[in-house]
Amino acid sequence: MENSRVLLELDAMSMFFGGVQAVRNMSFTIMENELAGIIGPNGAGKTTVFNVISSVYSPTSGCIWFREQDITLLMAYQVNRLGIARTFQNLRLFGRSSALENVMTAMQNRYRYSFRETLRGHLSPSYRPDPAYHYSFVESLLHLGRWDGVEKHIRAKSMELLERVGLADRMFQAAGTLPYGMQRRLEIARALALDPKLLLLDEPAAGMNPEEVFALNDLITGIHREFKLTTLVIEHHMDVIMEICPHIICMNFGAKIAEGTPEEIQNDPEVLNAYLGGEEAENA
Ligand SMILES: Nc1ncnc2c1ncn2[C@@H]1O[C@H](COP(=O)(O)OP(=O)(O)OP(=O)(O)O)[C@@H](O)[C@H]1O
Ligand SMILES: [Mg+2]
Repeated sequence: MENSRVLLELDAMSMFFGGVQAVRNMSFTIMENELAGIIGPNGAGKTTVFNVISSVYSPTSGCIWFREQDITLLMAYQVNRLGIARTFQNLRLFGRSSALENVMTAMQNRYRYSFRETLRGHLSPSYRPDPAYHYSFVESLLHLGRWDGVEKHIRAKSMELLERVGLADRMFQAAGTLPYGMQRRLEIARALALDPKLLLLDEPAAGMNPEEVFALNDLITGIHREFKLTTLVIEHHMDVIMEICPHIICMNFGAKIAEGTPEEIQNDPEVLNAYLGGEEAENA
């Protein structure tokens, strides 16, 4: 396979909150360009894994590697800047701002980083020649000159993203008044605005009806393909993840209990016991 480079690696990561062992000794590897999933019953530790990867918390022990860099002790904004973007299980939109403003704000943050990067960037051979980055340090500080062009660029790019997630006709609607399923799509557009290398989606299908879930699966697989974006999805509906993720990690009580293809996961006795058994009991 062409995607043979490791993008993300968790090495024996544990996260305790006081006496609660939210995640225990978690190790896994995500290759570049993968679409992988994490499943597990309520309280299994899935969101905590995302919180540690995105540096909301530093783990109690263990390491996180991203593109061969140890990111364990970095701050959330630094990890973000390296190219890890996420959505939240509990939506974090600006409810009174329009859908467009929500995406633009996320994208503006990315361009603001470039103020500092501009100086450093001109000295670096790996400087990315994005046209919007080509304004001087002084101009960027004062928001003069090219900034106007940058704003236009951000607006156009944000509109493109909204179109991509199927919200073109809701651009000017206040985010808080959008139907729930659309708010989830807007969160995805906000994450994409950061132009990430790794996208973390925390239960993107939560609260959606089956039709919306179907369209969402299409969106996630479509984005993954088009943007060649490595994506890690948390979901606790087994059938959703089975359909879209060729690589699945299953957690229970903070630990990884299985990892493999949908077929392997589906037939794993521990998964059936811990996960499906729990769900069947719940639905009984
Ligand atoms: N900030 C925190 N402080 C204390 N305990 C926490 C904190 N975050 C998570 N936990 C605990 O860690 C465990 C794992 O929680 P987590 O939210 O990671 O589970 P989850 O798999 O995402 O569950 P769900 O499917 O309900 O979203 C739970 O027992 C939870 O109560
Ligand atoms: Mg969760």
